[in-house]
Amino acid sequence: MTRQAMLYDAVNLAQGFPDFSAPAEIKVAAQQAVAGDINQYAITWGAKNLRNAIARQMGVWQGLTVDPEKEITVCCGSTEAMIATLLAVSNAGDEVIVFEPFYENYGPDAVLSGARPSFVKLRPPSDDGGEWTFDEKELRRAFDKHTKAIILNTPNNPTGKVFTRAELGLIRDLCVEFDVLAITDEIYEHILYDGTEHISMASLDGMGERTVTINGMSKTYSVTGWRVGWAVAAEKITNAIRKVHDFLTVGAPAPLQEAGAAALGFSAEYYAKLAAGYRSRRDHLMPALTAAGFKCFRPRGAYYVMTDISAFGFQDDVSFAKYLVEDIGVATVPGSSFYNNPRDGAQQVRFAFCKKPETLDEAARRLTRLRRRRPPG
Ligand SMILES: Cc1ncc(COP(=O)(O)O)c(C=O)c1O
Repeated sequence: MTRQAMLYDAVNLAQGFPDFSAPAEIKVAAQQAVAGDINQYAITWGAKNLRNAIARQMGVWQGLTVDPEKEITVCCGSTEAMIATLLAVSNAGDEVIVFEPFYENYGPDAVLSGARPSFVKLRPPSDDGGEWTFDEKELRRAFDKHTKAIILNTPNNPTGKVFTRAELGLIRDLCVEFDVLAITDEIYEHILYDGTEHISMASLDGMGERTVTINGMSKTYSVTGWRVGWAVAAEKITNAIRKVHDFLTVGAPAPLQEAGAAALGFSAEYYAKLAAGYRSRRDHLMPALTAAGFKCFRPRGAYYVMTDISAFGFQDDVSFAKYLVEDIGVATVPGSSFYNNPRDGAQQVRFAFCKKPETLDEAARRLTRLRRRRPPG
């Protein structure tokens, strides 16, 4: 969709990358690291300064005690952390549970690692203020003796759901009962709205030993192109992840890891401002979408709005997204890309709002044309 956006000169609300600057301090830290000749391989599982900073932050935000020497693997983005983890923990014939709609990589990641993904539905709220929910019985049915892991993403892309303590507790009980690992992608941990709280699965009783926590710099510091992320897990699991990581990529960019250590030292004020900035972007885009005829599912975290497009009368999400990018000039992601069965997402599209106010204004302006036009055919 980013390529389509370029082709049609559309406003790109498809891919989740900010179109505004990264914080000046970390750009300076990266420049200094390069100038200071931190230009050779870092230790394969991550520069010590960054691992220390990650451990410190997990203590500050989640009350977790993490050993930076034995329990952290720094990777090329949380994308690599996820595939390295799945390759490390799963064998052929294992099953991995994934909530859907899901971030596109999880299904293919499970398949690449020889496991079979099995999907549990998150159901959209019926009203604007409601939450995406899952059915407890459906979740229980997904666990059996073949289940190796469950992948959880909170705050969630694409739905914006933030899993509650009660929901995490239910998942924890099943993980303990069936001896299953939780692999949690917490890359949007600081992007929260409406008083929601991010809770790390690893902080729940009994989960410290059976959780792999994945995170990274991309979203929190607006540096999706730096490719620095990490996996945090008990020593035995970390040993396996480190071996896979070494063979996959050897290491993440050394100077950017040093800049990462500086970034993770930011004060609480930085994170509060980050969340407030995204809240105002959310509240900027959602009324424009609603006025144009979309039904919005209000996100509680992350920086996407999932929408229902039934009002426009298109047969499916792909033809609607094509029309939107080519004729209206706004790029979005078709909902089917977040589901195992494309039909489940055929009346949904996702908008990313990690954009400058003027970008959102321009999208809003173009979307008014949508309101006035009838779909072709
Ligand atoms: C849920 C989720 N996980 C991971 C990623 C990718 O993160 P990274 O840039 O650290 O590889 C994204 C990017 O959109 C995402 O939405």
